[in-house]
Amino acid sequence: MIGEWSRVRAARAWAKLKRQEGVLPLPQPLMERLRKETRSRHVRLERDMGLTPYTVTRMNIVRLLGKFHRFYSSWESWIEASPVDRDFFDPRRKLHLIGRDLAALGLAVPRTDHAERIDLGSPSLERAFGSLYVVEGSTLGGQVINRWLEHSPWVPERGLSYFASYGRDVGVMWRRFQTMIGDRVPVSAHDEVVAGAVTTFDQMYFCLCGKEEMA
Ligand code: HEM
Repeated sequence: MIGEWSRVRAARAWAKLKRQEGVLPLPQPLMERLRKETRSRHVRLERDMGLTPYTVTRMNIVRLLGKFHRFYSSWESWIEASPVDRDFFDPRRKLHLIGRDLAALGLAVPRTDHAERIDLGSPSLERAFGSLYVVEGSTLGGQVINRWLEHSPWVPERGLSYFASYGRDVGVMWRRFQTMIGDRVPVSAHDEVVAGAVTTFDQMYFCLCGKEEMA
């Protein structure tokens, strides 16, 4: 079973990365809730994306980058409309990385002016932090995919910047994100953060895999 195999390999690769300095997450009640209450959605997304070392073909990755482009063009505007500090958000933007990767692969950036907008609800600080949890967390899985891409002959010499994301700083950026939400979100607002994360996982699933609600 490729899906099962992929998960075992991904977990092993992640355990190796975790041992590297700075990648270990801090224990934190809100993070624990986010992880626990979105776990089934992560498993479903990871499974249905169908990525393995054998399926990271140029065609699959180009398709995926197009879908991510659609998601992030909506998502970045939504975060901009939230009270999240711009200095905190700007280095975490993803859209330009996808545009850069498509260009490096010789492709045009898709038009998004008529693209269907994703629905993430009202952009409160709490919901935006929940949404950022999903997107920032995806940089961790991106590290695994990036390793697979290293062995693909069609990948441009400099790699694909979306999957590489912060490079060696992935662990540091993840820790800073955890510190930020730990400092800014009172316990009374935890439910809203989790709701933001759940909605974002569902909308991302809708964009990447074509279905929205968790069955
Ligand atoms: C767009 C798709 C994806 C999203 C939104 C996503 C989201 C997340 C999130 C939020 C976390 C943080 C979990 C935590 O609280 O510790 C995470 C961790 C992780 N993800 Fe993903 N992920 C995605 C795709 C993938 C894929 C395709 C893989 C496998 C290749 C993967 C492998 C991992 C691994 C290994 C971790 C490390 C933490 C762990 O589960 O112990 N993810 N991801």
